[in-house]
Amino acid sequence: MSDSPVSHHEGGTPPEKADDATDEQTAQMEQAYAQMRRKLRMTQLAENVKHKIMILSGKGGVGKSTVSTGLALALARQGKKVGLMDIDITGPNIPKMLGITGSELRVEEGQIHPVEGPHGIKVISMAFLLEDEDAPVIWRGPVKLGAIQQFIGDVAWGDLDALIIDFPPGTSDEPLTVAQSLPAIDGVVVVTTPQDVALLDSRKSINFAKTLKLPCLGVVENMSGYTIQGSAEPKSKLTVKGPQGVNIDVESDENGDWSVTLDLFKSGGGKNAAKELEVPFLGKLPFDPGIVRGGDDGVHRIVAEPEGESAKAFETVVNNLITQLEDKEDSSELKIL
Ligand SMILES: Nc1ncnc2c1ncn2[C@@H]1O[C@H](COP(=O)(O)OP(=O)(O)OP(=O)(O)O)[C@@H](O)[C@H]1O
Ligand SMILES: [Mg+2]
Repeated sequence: MSDSPVSHHEGGTPPEKADDATDEQTAQMEQAYAQMRRKLRMTQLAENVKHKIMILSGKGGVGKSTVSTGLALALARQGKKVGLMDIDITGPNIPKMLGITGSELRVEEGQIHPVEGPHGIKVISMAFLLEDEDAPVIWRGPVKLGAIQQFIGDVAWGDLDALIIDFPPGTSDEPLTVAQSLPAIDGVVVVTTPQDVALLDSRKSINFAKTLKLPCLGVVENMSGYTIQGSAEPKSKLTVKGPQGVNIDVESDENGDWSVTLDLFKSGGGKNAAKELEVPFLGKLPFDPGIVRGGDDGVHRIVAEPEGESAKAFETVVNNLITQLEDKEDSSELKIL
C-alpha cells in the first residue's frame, strides 16, 4: 500500500513491466522507482535552493508561523526568491495568515506546484490538500512521513534564494524527518518569548538542533513589548504614560503618526538566552495586535503596513539572518545569498 497522500504519476520513463512480474511486484518496483526519483530531486533541491532555514520553538503559540511568514515576506521584499513550506500537518495555518486559503496545488508531470502568495512567495501547505479545513488530520506515522518527503522531494520549487520551513511546536518527528531528508540545511532559527522562562524553551530547541547536527542561526524574541500608535500634529512632541505610570516621550513624524513600544511583560529573555547559550541574537519583534488581526484577515502585517513598526522589526531580523548566512558561507566558501 502506498504511503502517499498525493497520488500522481511520476514523470520520466516508468520502469518496464516484466512479462512474468506479478501486479504486486510491479507495484513494488514502481514504488522503489518513485523513491529513487524523489531522492534525486531532493539532491537537486539542495542545489537549486541556496538557503534552507528551519523555524523551531520549544513550545507552541510563541509565533513560529508568524515569524516564518514574516521572514519569507521580508526576504521577498528585498527581491529574494522565497519558498515557504508549512510542515505543520495537523494544524496548517500559513495559508490563512497569507490570505491564500482555498488555493489548489497543481500537479504536473509528477511534480507539485506551489501556490503563489503575496510578494510572489511560493507556498506549500497541507492545508491546500484538505477538503475540510476544520476537520482534524489524524495520520499514521508513516503517512505523515510520506507526506513530508513528498513536500520535499516532489515540489517544483524552481530556483530559490531561500526556503523557510515552519514546524509544529516542540521537538517532534517533523523536524527530524526534514533534517534527515533534505540535504544541506543551513540551520535553525529559534523563536521565543521575552520572559525568563524563554531560556529553558530556547535551550531545548538549541539542543535539539545540535542533535540534528544543524547550526543555530539565531534566536528571535517575539511578542517583545507592545506597540501603541496614534496621530498628532506633524512633528510634535508628546508624552505617553507607560506601564507603572512612567512617562515616555514620543515625537510624531511628518504625517503626524507616532508609535511607541512598551515593555509590557518582561523584556530581554530571548537576548539573554542567546547570550547564555552562545548563539546569535537576531532581534525582537514587538507585540502588535495588528499581527493577530492580520493573521485572522489573511493580510500579513508586513503587507498591510510595509513601513510599520513590525515590518521594520522583521527587516532587522532578516538582515541579521542574512549576515549569519553570509558568515557561514564565508567560512565554507559557498555562494552568497
Ligand atoms: N508579535 C506578535 N504580536 C501579537 N500577536 C502575535 C505576535 N506573534 C504572534 N502573534 C499571535 O499569536 C498567535 C500564535 O502565533 P503563531 O500561530 O504564529 O504561533 P505558532 O508558534 O506558530 O503556534 P503553533 O505552535 O500552534 O504552531 C496568533 O494568533 C498570532 O497572530
Ligand atoms: Mg504554527
